[in-house]
Amino acid sequence: MKQRRNQVESLVIEAEFWRGRRIFLTGHTGFKGGWLSMLLNVMGARVFGLALAPEHRDGVFVASEVEKNIDHHIGDIRDFNCVSNAMQEARPEIVIHMAAQPLVRLSYAEPVETYATNVMGTVHVLEAIRRCPSVRAAVVVTSDKSYENDGRIQGYRETDPVGGHDPYSNSKGCAELVTSAYRRSFFYRAGDAAIASVRAGNVIGGGDWARNRLIPDAIRAFSSGETLRIRFPAAVRPWQHVFDPIVGYLRLAEHLVRHGQTFASGWNFGPASDGHVPVRQVVERLAHHWGEPVSWAVDGSEQPHEAGHLQLDCAKARDQLGWQPSVNFEEAIMLTIDWYRAAARGTARRTVALQQIDWLFERHRAMALQEAGA
Ligand SMILES: NC(=O)c1ccc[n+]([C@@H]2O[C@H](COP(=O)([O-])OP(=O)(O)OC[C@H]3O[C@@H](n4cnc5c(N)ncnc54)[C@H](O)[C@@H]3O)[C@@H](O)[C@H]2O)c1
Repeated sequence: MKQRRNQVESLVIEAEFWRGRRIFLTGHTGFKGGWLSMLLNVMGARVFGLALAPEHRDGVFVASEVEKNIDHHIGDIRDFNCVSNAMQEARPEIVIHMAAQPLVRLSYAEPVETYATNVMGTVHVLEAIRRCPSVRAAVVVTSDKSYENDGRIQGYRETDPVGGHDPYSNSKGCAELVTSAYRRSFFYRAGDAAIASVRAGNVIGGGDWARNRLIPDAIRAFSSGETLRIRFPAAVRPWQHVFDPIVGYLRLAEHLVRHGQTFASGWNFGPASDGHVPVRQVVERLAHHWGEPVSWAVDGSEQPHEAGHLQLDCAKARDQLGWQPSVNFEEAIMLTIDWYRAAARGTARRTVALQQIDWLFERHRAMALQEAGA
C-alpha cells in the first residue's frame, strides 16, 4: 500500500515541492501567466511577477484577482535594469520567462517591437539570472512556431532546427538560440543555474482575449451574434488546454532543481494526437458547445503567411519527465467554453478558475491511480 501511494505521489503535480518556493515569473498578467500564477498560488509558492500592465479587464489576471495573491510588478523586459533590479529584489530560486509579444499577425505590423521584446527581453532575463546567485533553475517559454517549418506532417522533435518564417516565429527561434548560447557559455557547470526552453502548441482556455486568436475571436463573435470569420480553416495546429503546458513547465522546473544540467535542454509540450486538428474542426466543436445558434464563414481576403501544418513530438517529455497531456481535445473545448459562459452569467471568475484548477488536480489524481494499477 505504502509503495503504491509513493508511486501515486510521484506522478501527480507535486504541490508539496512548490510550497514556499520563490518563483520569478515574467508575463504573469497575460493568459498563460495568469493561470500559472493561480496554480502556483494554490500550491503555496511565492510568486513575483514582472510584466506590462494587464491589457484586458476580463482576462485571467484581472478577472481572477491574481494580483491579490502574488507580488506584482509592472515593468518592461526591454529594459535590462528593470529586469535585473526586480530579480535581485525577488531572490528567486526558479525563473519562468513567459513575457513576450505572442501574436503572429501583430509581428508583421510591429516586427521591431516583437524582436525587441522576444529576443532582447530573453537576453535581459538570462543576463539577470547570471547576476542573481539565488537562481537554481529557469524555464524559457518559446513556441512550437520556433521550429523551421518544412511542411512535414510528422511532429517536430527537440533536435530539429529552429527558424521561423514570420517575425514572431523567427523571434522565438532566436530566443531558442539565445538560450542555447547562454547555456553553453555561462550555465554549464554542475553548480550553475540549469536553463531549459519549452515549446508548447496553440493553447486554449478561459480568459484569453488576445486579438486575432481563434478562441477569443470566436467568443467575441458568438456573444455579439456576429459572424466569426476564420482565416486558415484547413491549417492543422496542436491545440491544447492551458493546464497541460503549464503543468509540463512546472514538472520540468522540478527536475531542473533536483537534477540540474541533465534536464537543461529544449522540451516539447504538445497535445495528444486528438489535439492535432484543423481550425475548422475547432470552430465546429466550439459552436456545438456554445449551445446557441452561431454563424461562421471563411475570410477569403489575402492573409500573411502562416504555416499549414504544425505538430509536436512529445516523446522526450513523456519518457524523461513522465509528463503527458491530461486534458483531451473535447474537454479542452468544454473547459474553455464553460469559463466564458460562467463569466457571462456573472459567476465570479476567480471561483470558476479555482473550480477548474480543482478539476485539474482531480484529473491528475485519477491518472496517477490508473498508472499505479489501482
Ligand atoms: N497562447 C498560445 O497559444 C501560445 C503558444 C505557444 C507559445 N506561447 C508563448 O507563451 C507565452 C505567454 O503567451 P500568452 O498567450 O499568455 O500571451 P499574453 O499576450 O496573454 O501575455 C503576454 C505577457 O507578456 C507580457 N509582456 C509583453 N511584452 C512585455 C514587455 N515588453 N515587458 C514585460 N512584459 C511584457 C504581457 O504584459 C503579458 O503579461 C509567450 O511567450 C508566448 O509566445 C503562447
